[in-house]
Amino acid sequence: MRIKDKKDANKTTDPVCAMLVSKETPFISTYNANEYYFCSEKCKELFEQEPELFVSMMEKRQDSFDRERLKSLRHLADEVTHEIRNPLTSIGGFARRVYKSLPEKSSERQYMKRVIDDVEKLEKMISRLVQIETEDFDMQPTDINEIIKDVINSFERDFNESGISLDLDLKEAPLFPIDRGKMKTALSNLLRNAIEAMEHEPKNLTINTDVEGEYLILSITDTGKGIPEEKVKYIFDPFFTSKIYGPGLGLAFVKKVIGAHGGEIEVKSTLGKGTTFHIKLPVKRKG
Ligand SMILES: Nc1ncnc2c1ncn2[C@@H]1O[C@H](COP(=O)(O)OP(=O)(O)O)[C@@H](O)[C@H]1O
Ligand SMILES: [Mg+2]
Repeated sequence: MRIKDKKDANKTTDPVCAMLVSKETPFISTYNANEYYFCSEKCKELFEQEPELFVSMMEKRQDSFDRERLKSLRHLADEVTHEIRNPLTSIGGFARRVYKSLPEKSSERQYMKRVIDDVEKLEKMISRLVQIETEDFDMQPTDINEIIKDVINSFERDFNESGISLDLDLKEAPLFPIDRGKMKTALSNLLRNAIEAMEHEPKNLTINTDVEGEYLILSITDTGKGIPEEKVKYIFDPFFTSKIYGPGLGLAFVKKVIGAHGGEIEVKSTLGKGTTFHIKLPVKRKG
């Protein structure tokens, strides 16, 4: 299957032969209220004989493609981390020594400060990459609502400064095994994204928890700019970002943490209206 790039925005995959076809094609069929596009009459005919089979094959193909894509991205991130870490430590170390030896108001000292600041940015990125790869979770019986309240408190200033109103509805939840530190970072990443997405009024953040059977459901809804439909599937990828100073590692970490707790995360977004992240965590899991 060929990967779509920007100029393929108007193209879709033929569910029978997996070729990329333009949506202007005359061969179109509808199944379960969805439109499917075909490269030829023959493909369309085959599809109409067994639509369910082809749709399920198409989904499986897509799943395995997504898994492979993520695997290569992870591999790339791993390689980058290992290759960059050591040279970065020496660049940073030597730059700091040179910086100290330069005269106070010299322009060389200012340039060296820039080098040091940029090295620190890269060091932060590397340590976030390492966190994404971590398997080291310290699970202790914890009340998730306490974590949520702590995270909200740490954002109080940001909410006030950005004029964001908060709607909080936390239902009593049983204690279940949680890595407190990592869960806090994950929820902070979600709130940071929500704040960054709400550039204009209305600026409302809604945070709910609920217990449904053996699951705790946490929903975080913002009234921000939303995510374009074609981008939604990439947002959990490491390095996917729409921001100038990304670096696009926040949600990859969130996904890792939720997965380590046996949970799932889903996103629903409407462009120009806002975004909701639903997190489903099993409460009966053994830590
Ligand atoms: N609440 C949100 N509203 C709109 N877009 C979002 C939201 N959360 C995440 N995104 C999109 O997902 C991308 C990836 O998020 P993240 O992994 O945290 O990286 P970063 O914030 O560094 O870009 C963001 O750049 C943004 O495009
Ligand atoms: Mg982020």
